[in-house]
Amino acid sequence: MNSEVPKDHSLDNSLALMQEGYEFIGNRCKKYGADLFEARLLGQKVVCMTGEEAARIFYDNEKFQRKGAAPKRVQKTLFGVNAVQTKDGAVHQGRKMLFMALLSPDGVDEVRKQAETYFREAATRWETMDKVVLFEEAAKILCKIACEWAGVPLKDDEAKKNAEDFTAMIDAFGAVGPRHWKGRRARARAEEWITEVIEKVRAGELAAREGSALHSWAVYREPDGEPLDAKMAAVELINVLRPIVAIATFISFSALALHEHPECKEKLRTEGGEYREWFAEEVRRFYPFGPFVGARVKNTFTWQNYNFEEGQLVLLDMYGTNHDYRLWEFPDQFHPERFRDWDGNLFKFIPQGGGDPAKGHRCPGEGVTVEVMKVCQDLLVNGITYDVPEDQDLSYSLVRMPTRPESGFIMANIKRVK
Ligand code: HEM
Repeated sequence: MNSEVPKDHSLDNSLALMQEGYEFIGNRCKKYGADLFEARLLGQKVVCMTGEEAARIFYDNEKFQRKGAAPKRVQKTLFGVNAVQTKDGAVHQGRKMLFMALLSPDGVDEVRKQAETYFREAATRWETMDKVVLFEEAAKILCKIACEWAGVPLKDDEAKKNAEDFTAMIDAFGAVGPRHWKGRRARARAEEWITEVIEKVRAGELAAREGSALHSWAVYREPDGEPLDAKMAAVELINVLRPIVAIATFISFSALALHEHPECKEKLRTEGGEYREWFAEEVRRFYPFGPFVGARVKNTFTWQNYNFEEGQLVLLDMYGTNHDYRLWEFPDQFHPERFRDWDGNLFKFIPQGGGDPAKGHRCPGEGVTVEVMKVCQDLLVNGITYDVPEDQDLSYSLVRMPTRPESGFIMANIKRVK
């Protein structure tokens, strides 16, 4: 039966993946007219799949598990070794419930309020600067927000260095060579820093507010009653700090969208309301960030005449699903109004994973992401005026993973709107 499913006949597709980046899975699914195909990546057989139905299968906990799915090179840079992303069953569920509690509507509101304060303050500083690289500034500000919200002490002059380390970890996920090693060194530094902070809290040398992310991870116990060792607690605490800094990528894409679609800027100015939400969602759908996500087959099953065998590695195409013409009208056009009648389908719009975040691995940080994006959108539309100098490269690569506007989005002549 598997003979009917397309197989990419190359000896190994790893090079093609490096060359085609975000479009690797989508290109082949289009070529074969199929939702899935078999390939070889880094010497192993992999099934790649795309679309809503594929996402529904992928987030079925009876069919898939994460054990053994994330390569060590991704764990040593992006996730942290043995982090929540690699866990299944009760251990995953226990840790995930803590992430969900920290990122509850109240938690989101706290982060949003801090973002409003910090970005407003930043605008005052930007007025005195010749130019601002939005990506770098946003990462630095987000690092301050993340640490303050989580309860992690951070001196003003440490924000830049730590934001660079968090960015380097994210930047390493699709990389080989120097970019990968930079991410590994950055993670080693961050884990050393945060492990020490956890140890100080446990030793009573540093006060941590009950309910804060720092306190919660310092005292967390696994379902068997055992505390996490200090390094593991640090890895999970970093799992809220690093992704808050990652929002800088969507902020620079938001600025690019405003630049490329002045009509949207006008609508944000005049309509506000729901349009702010639609705009943020369209940025998350349209621009590339997470390319795909991997899991292993837990129990053998059949889908679309393909026999998924226990242990097999499967990749789900997030970028391609967000650009699937069967799900989105004119998917390659930027059109926020498409979210007017959005039905909340958990498997169709998957920029941060699919399914119910409380039951599976979908990102628990979507609320924070969208709220922080909206704060920055408002600042760019109503809070400041600025020029976008022409001598910069605003293009972004679909091959480099992760990607962002090459120049980081440079703004000049910034003035606050009084
Ligand atoms: C998981 C993307 C922001 C915390 C994920 C996943 C993706 C993702 C693709 C994996 C889904 C899966 O494995 O099926 C993003 C993007 C973000 C973002 C593009 C934008 C910047 C955040 C924020 C937080 C966060 C702001 C927390 C403050 C997490 C955690 C997980 C996760 C803890 C692991 C969930 C699990 O394994 O159950 N994210 N995320 N993320 N994200 Fe995010």
